Amino acid sequence: MTELERLQQAAQCVRERLTLAPKLALVLGSGMSEVLKDLEKVQRLAWEQIPHFPQATVTGHAGEWVFGLLEQTPILLSRGRVHHYEGYSMAQIAFPIRLMKLLGVERVILTNAAGGINKAYRVGDFVLIRDHINTIPDNPLRGENISELGPRFPNLLDAYSARWRAHAKEIAQELGLELHEGVYIATPGPMYETPAEIEAYRRWGADVVGMSTVPEVIAARHCGLEVLAISLVTNLAAGLGSDKLTHEEVLETTKRRERELARLLEELVKKSKK
Ligand code: HPA
Repeated sequence: MTELERLQQAAQCVRERLTLAPKLALVLGSGMSEVLKDLEKVQRLAWEQIPHFPQATVTGHAGEWVFGLLEQTPILLSRGRVHHYEGYSMAQIAFPIRLMKLLGVERVILTNAAGGINKAYRVGDFVLIRDHINTIPDNPLRGENISELGPRFPNLLDAYSARWRAHAKEIAQELGLELHEGVYIATPGPMYETPAEIEAYRRWGADVVGMSTVPEVIAARHCGLEVLAISLVTNLAAGLGSDKLTHEEVLETTKRRERELARLLEELVKKSKK
């Protein structure tokens, strides 16, 4: 069976179970999946129920897709995501994004927790991703191209939609929320970086660092989805802040900024109708 056939089978199964057909999807980062709880007409689909969907690894937690209406806008909310460091293949990481495309999704918002490299950033700040640098040593487009989804050599020129970013900045301003704009560097993880790596990345022009998002963005752009991505600076990157740098710190900051993130995402969803 080809990857496209697997995707088609999964799409068929999801369609049979759902009444909503969202055009907008949200993939939320570590500890952020609680932010949009107030959906109406909710339908849930555990990942295990979807054929060929990446299943939890030994260490990972199984996730779910939640479909619902947020202020009358149908959305697909992915609770949980899969990472390269957990051992998933790039095809597995791309699978949910490609499945969204087959289900009629046109636009996707991705959020993540990230370390702040730019010295003007503070813990708790939000950063709209303007562009990325990828150091993860694989990508979802390697191998035979799925030409039904997109071209062999896609470009990443407007990977993070300039139009949507401009809109997001207006919304943040209306909410009185500071929103930086910067470059995200993706590292394979799972270890945090060394101070020397962070200094090198800063000189390359990176503003925030994290272990996710980029493979999904590559898959999304290949199949023509419009992308918006937001980082929450959960900690200062290695060598720039305190000497602890733990996952607990990351989760603590997320918890503290969760309400503000929810406000921003809600407004983005409400005003995202084309
Ligand atoms: N580095 C990489 N990934 C991260 C960090 C970091 O400092 N913080 C949250 N995710």
